[in-house]
Amino acid sequence: MGMLGWWYRRGLEMKGLITMDDLTNEDILSILDDAARLLPVAKGETFLPLLQGKILGNLFFEPSTRTRMSFETAMKRLGGDVVNLGDVKTSSVVKGETLFDTIQMVDGYTDIIAMRHPRQGAARYAQDAARVPILNGGDGAGHHPTQTMLDLFTILQSHGTLEGLSVVLAGDLRYGRTVHSLSHALVRFGCKLILASPELLRMPTEIIEDLREHGADVTETEDLLGNINEADVVYMTRIQKERFADEDEYARCAGAYKLHARHLAEVKEDMIIMHPLPRVDEIDPSVDDTRHARYFEQAFNGVVARMALLCKLLGVPVPEDVAAAGGAAVTKHGNKAVSSKSGSADLLLAAGADIAHDRKRLETIFLSLIHI
Ligand code: NCD
Repeated sequence: MGMLGWWYRRGLEMKGLITMDDLTNEDILSILDDAARLLPVAKGETFLPLLQGKILGNLFFEPSTRTRMSFETAMKRLGGDVVNLGDVKTSSVVKGETLFDTIQMVDGYTDIIAMRHPRQGAARYAQDAARVPILNGGDGAGHHPTQTMLDLFTILQSHGTLEGLSVVLAGDLRYGRTVHSLSHALVRFGCKLILASPELLRMPTEIIEDLREHGADVTETEDLLGNINEADVVYMTRIQKERFADEDEYARCAGAYKLHARHLAEVKEDMIIMHPLPRVDEIDPSVDDTRHARYFEQAFNGVVARMALLCKLLGVPVPEDVAAAGGAAVTKHGNKAVSSKSGSADLLLAAGADIAHDRKRLETIFLSLIHI
């Protein structure tokens, strides 16, 4: 493709995901549907290299475990590759390079960029500097739309719908970017919101106004426990210590809410407890073993949700029948997973990669073939 074609192609692609406003409700549902079909690929059971030859640039200017690693896992499970900025301290940022210059340069190395930055609005700014799509992985106390997509996926998985649910958002609603993006999306699906926070950490007024403009049924309260029994979802968040200018202010809010298993006696049977993680002390480990805890599944769902987003923004359709389109994947034990419809020839081919390394397994496979 000539230079003109390259520019033209870039121009046609959907721009990035900076806030949930970049997606319609139909987009959201169709991406979540793609994500559900990609589950066997995320689990490593099916190999489907839809993004082979594509490169994701991971630009994390702030700490991250889940977002960065799940983006990387998503890309690699789909056969794509990842380049990382790495530790900000060892990058040219410390030499005084501007975000604009960094983005313009990484834009040339990659097909899509996932970015996290401590400054609110940084992702929008980066999108203006880049031709490739930017996925906002968190901009200060602003937005975190890719987290919202995995949150919605988790809710849909448990409740079978996103519509009309009663959702408690609790903790740091002032600085917590996950709840800024999630509240907006939930309201668009007609959910009722109960915002539980200490006075100092109330949801910013402009966000509440935006929610009300979208017809939201929103209640603000300081009382978490008095509101969990009616809820379908309780979404806990960490108090964002790093965003406080004043340490005393943090000390006044720290430990405001601590959800314990003994608080769950009267909650709805199918109520789910979510948390974007990392948790500090807002969910006691006693909750982990209850039927309500969903935060670890939620973290896993980051892989499928981000796979579906990467495909969407790179303009690569997810096949309707992922199992038929994909191949057997290499399992965690090193042998190839074999689908039930594989014949003995497939079974042998699948085993081939291991033959030189694992005599014992070879014997087992031949023994099992005798019975086919
Ligand atoms: C969240 C974040 O970075 O905003 N974490 C995440 O992406 N899973 C929540 C937090 O740090 O408290």
